[in-house]
Amino acid sequence: MPMPSDTLTTFLRRPLTVRGRQIPGRLFLAPLSKLGNTAFRELVAGYGGYGLLFSEMCWARSVPCGNGHDQGGFMWRSGENLQELVCQIFGNDPAAMARAAAIIEKEGFFGVDINFGCSVAAVCKKQCGAALLRVPDKAAAIVAAVREAVDIPVFVKFRTGWEDRPEAAVAMARRFEAAGADALTFHPRVAPDRRTRPPKWAYIADVKSAVDIPVFGNGDVFDRADCERMVQTTGCDGVALGRLALAKPWIFGEWTGTLTPAPDIYRTGAQKLTRLLERYYHPETARRRFMRFAAYFSANFQFGHTLYARLTRARDMDAIRAALDRFFDIAPELLQRPNMNHFR
Ligand SMILES: Cc1cc2nc3c(=O)[nH]c(=O)nc-3n(C[C@H](O)[C@H](O)[C@H](O)COP(=O)(O)O)c2cc1C
Repeated sequence: MPMPSDTLTTFLRRPLTVRGRQIPGRLFLAPLSKLGNTAFRELVAGYGGYGLLFSEMCWARSVPCGNGHDQGGFMWRSGENLQELVCQIFGNDPAAMARAAAIIEKEGFFGVDINFGCSVAAVCKKQCGAALLRVPDKAAAIVAAVREAVDIPVFVKFRTGWEDRPEAAVAMARRFEAAGADALTFHPRVAPDRRTRPPKWAYIADVKSAVDIPVFGNGDVFDRADCERMVQTTGCDGVALGRLALAKPWIFGEWTGTLTPAPDIYRTGAQKLTRLLERYYHPETARRRFMRFAAYFSANFQFGHTLYARLTRARDMDAIRAALDRFFDIAPELLQRPNMNHFR
């Protein structure tokens, strides 16, 4: 039976305690490489409604060299509320991960998140991300080292593993909990699968019932009904949104009832992001980051491929803004549910 709409809203707004610290809600921005940057986070923060934001992933060894304001992943803006931000790190050396976590704590982040989910070749070749799920002892040692280095909450994000067996995910979740993780974000896909086949949400329920720490479900939540179904069928403690948050950065405010999106929010949201990216990044970096966003944003529209093609041809942000205006001036047809198949 579908969940009444106000029940989902109530659930998403219910505070959650992790390591004795309160989180104001249960809808989270999943970590998104090159996309969960400080400009995008400022856009999302303006709409509100989320429990926590997770940063784009940062290479652990680069964290000690960062100053918060360079153009890498370990970057935030002055005035950004780090108490609602979790910094995600990846790496394979427990000592380097622990060092990075200690700096993240010192800078004032709410928590640190360890990436055991990324399966892109460049990351797995370095024996990082999902590659570590092949070596559970090492993965657990990383969590234990980070746990020992900090007092802030330690989050772990992981996938099913390299074989499609829920038992492996359950065993890994128990090891992460025993090593000191405070909460898990679980994306129930096998590692070689780059989001082509549907995630197996039933495995989220398996992981949830195997541990005592909170478990956040993740994977293919593309509309409110999906979110209701994930919460209802898995019993998860929260939901992490990746691509849907890129398509609709106001979704956290919309689903928690703290924001009623204006009809022109697609136009104003995309335009605002162009300005924010320009503020924090060199022009070409800003343009490239906008184009990564544009792939998912375009998925909202019946003729999204036309928008995406026009944006691809734009040489700079002024041309991008002109292309957006031209597209929105003809009142484009919105899809009920973003068509993510075009833009994996
Ligand atoms: C463009 C992009 C970048 C991503 N970067 C990261 C990352 O840096 N760290 C991570 O743990 N997962 C990363 N992911 C995976 C997402 O956090 C999430 O697990 C995945 O997209 C499934 O959730 P969704 O269906 O809500 O998008 C990325 C996904 C996408 C699409």
